Amino acid sequence: MNPSIIAHLPTPIERAPRLGEILGITDLWIKRDDLTGLALGGNKVRKLDLLVKDAVDQGCNALVTGGGRQSNHARVTAAAANRFGIECHLALSGPQPKRYEGNLLMCHLLGATIHFNSGNEYYDIEERILNISDQLAESGGLPYPIPIGGASTIGVGAYELAAHEIEDQFAAIDNLAMDWIVVADGSGGTHAGLLLGLGASNTRVLGVDVGTRPDLDEAVPELVKSTAEFLCVANNMGTVFVDHDHVGPGYGRASDQTISALRTAAQSEGLILDPVYTAKALDALRTHAADGRINGRVIFLHTGGTPALFTHEYEGLLREEADTN
Ligand SMILES: Cc1ncc(COP(=O)(O)O)c(C=O)c1O
Repeated sequence: MNPSIIAHLPTPIERAPRLGEILGITDLWIKRDDLTGLALGGNKVRKLDLLVKDAVDQGCNALVTGGGRQSNHARVTAAAANRFGIECHLALSGPQPKRYEGNLLMCHLLGATIHFNSGNEYYDIEERILNISDQLAESGGLPYPIPIGGASTIGVGAYELAAHEIEDQFAAIDNLAMDWIVVADGSGGTHAGLLLGLGASNTRVLGVDVGTRPDLDEAVPELVKSTAEFLCVANNMGTVFVDHDHVGPGYGRASDQTISALRTAAQSEGLILDPVYTAKALDALRTHAADGRINGRVIFLHTGGTPALFTHEYEGLLREEADTN
C-alpha cells in the first residue's frame, strides 16, 4: 500500500544509456526522486510525508527545522506545513541576505518564520532547532522539531520504503539484481534508509559526502541501527561506503569537476542536477566507474535540489567556466 500523503510515489526509474556510455557503465538507471512533487520535490518530500503525518497525529501546530540558507529540506518542510495549515519555523545559518534567491526565496514565499544567524556548524543549527521548539512550547505551542535533513528514525524509515519501491520496480522490469545505488550524503538519512531497506541483498550503496555533516561515517550506521530498532526490522547492514573525495571547496561550493558533472548529465540525458548535492554524487560516480570499482546495474538516485541552480552564486560560476571555454 502506498502510504503517501504529499509525495507523488512511486517516482519514475529511467534508463540513462547515453550517460552510462560516457561513464563506462553498462546498465545505468536514474531514480527520479527529484520528481516527488511537493514544492519542486526532492528526497526530503518522502521523509516529510511520514514526518508531517506524525506531527499532525500528535496534535502539533508547528514544524521546526533548519539547515543552510539554501536548504532544500527547509523549503519542503515549509510547504508540508502549509498543506496541513500549521506553522513552520526555520533555523538557517548565516545572516539575513539582501537578496533572496533559490530555496530561500521559496521559504519566504511559503510564509515560514525564518530565524537567521542560527549558527554555522551542523550541531549549532541542531541546537537552535531545539531552542526554538522550547520557546514555542513555553508560549503554549506544540512544536514538532525535525533534525537537519529530516534524519530522524521516521525520516530514515521513508528511505527504507524507497528501497523496496526500487526493488519492486526492477522486479516488474526484468528482475535483474542491482549492483550499486549512488546517493549524495548530507545528514546521511537517505543513505541509512536505503541500507536498511536493502537488508541482506547484495546491492551496495555509495554515499557521497557533500560536506554537510562532520560525523557522517559514524552517523550513517547509527541511523541504520536506531531506525531498525524503531521499526522493529532486522539490521543486516553490510559495509558502509562513504566517498569524501568529491566535496570540492566545501559545502555549497562547487569545484570545476562538480560543474563538469552538471554539464555532462544535462548534455547527455537532458537531466538537470544541482551544484550542491547531486552533481557531486555524479562526479564521484564518474571517478569510481573510471577506476572500475563501480559497474554493472547502477542506480543513481536523483535527490533533487535544483532550486540552488537559480542563485547568483551558481549563475556566476557557470558563466566563468563558459567564458574560459
Ligand atoms: C538535493 C539533496 N540531495 C541529497 C541530500 C542529502 O540527503 P540526506 O540529508 O538524507 O543525506 C539533500 C539534503 O541534505 C538534498 O537536499
